[in-house]
Amino acid sequence: MVRTDLPLAHRREGKVRDIYDLDSWGDPPRAQSAVLLVATDRLSAFDVVLPTAIPGKGALLTRMSVAWFEWIERRGLAHTHVLSGDAADVPGLSDDERAQIAGRCVIGRRCEIVAIECVVRGYLEGSGWAAYQRSGSVCGVPLPAGLRRGDRLPGAIFTPATKAAAGEHDENIGYERACEGVGEEIMRTLRDTSLAIYEAAHGYAHERGVILADTKFEFGHEVDETGARTGRVLLADEALTPDSSRFWAHESWAPGSEQASFDKQYVREYLQSAVERGEWDKTAPGIALPDEVVAGTLARYEEAFARLFV
Ligand SMILES: Nc1ncnc2c1ncn2[C@@H]1O[C@H](COP(=O)(O)OP(=O)(O)OP(=O)(O)O)[C@@H](O)[C@H]1O
Ligand SMILES: [Mg+2]
Repeated sequence: MVRTDLPLAHRREGKVRDIYDLDSWGDPPRAQSAVLLVATDRLSAFDVVLPTAIPGKGALLTRMSVAWFEWIERRGLAHTHVLSGDAADVPGLSDDERAQIAGRCVIGRRCEIVAIECVVRGYLEGSGWAAYQRSGSVCGVPLPAGLRRGDRLPGAIFTPATKAAAGEHDENIGYERACEGVGEEIMRTLRDTSLAIYEAAHGYAHERGVILADTKFEFGHEVDETGARTGRVLLADEALTPDSSRFWAHESWAPGSEQASFDKQYVREYLQSAVERGEWDKTAPGIALPDEVVAGTLARYEEAFARLFV
């Protein structure tokens, strides 16, 4: 399932999810300013949506995200946007349409998303590793000398990025600039909440053989039917999935090189090899994935879910 076209208001799409507005949800319907997020099987890498889908990925991402959102609520770490994960709660759909989104939808409280990607890093990899090699710091946070790729940091760090427009890449901006962009008070809340969720989730995952190396959260100001802010800040979008995080297998963690991972890194490696062969230049349109990479990607996502929640 790579695309939906449901008879609901204001369809828009992200790289992975199709989004609609709902004026009510549930049975009997409750008036509530909500959104419907449907996770498709689209896969994006290097910010390009690939022509090959990963069948079942959207459902898996949704299960994992909803499981983490519940876990976060239960521990009182944040209020989340989740109202329901049940397709039966979406009003005005046919049975066929409900079947299409069953298991891959979330009804969320509608938010004005804060235009900052709240990235937390507990280990050195990706753009953090690249920045450290250049400057010894990541997003303005100085780090001790001598760290290797994949090393655990002395403490988790908050390294916010801009939310790039479609087709653009997010840019690491650091805490100060994030404050200038959206305000110091809200950024303090987002930083403290992001770090607290990361620390707790890292501990939980660690006991289950998974290293949560880094992750990205999105938060929003909850809005009512008129679009006015209610004053609550909610954890929105998805949470702690292999699309938004780096997950490593604990038993094979060996700093000093690239780690075996459960996340999208596997696809990125395949694509990087295609770039090196001169078959792709990391711009849209993306290139197709071979069957074994499709199967390997899904298997990694499944293994991560099984370790964490089964
Ligand atoms: N509760 C919410 N209210 C309003 N918008 C939301 C809510 N939760 C998530 N969103 C938005 O829905 C979209 C989810 O789609 P998807 O994850 O595919 O986007 P994306 O390609 O990551 O895009 P973006 O670059 O905008 O994050 C995101 O734009 C996200 O900000
Ligand atoms: Mg997203």
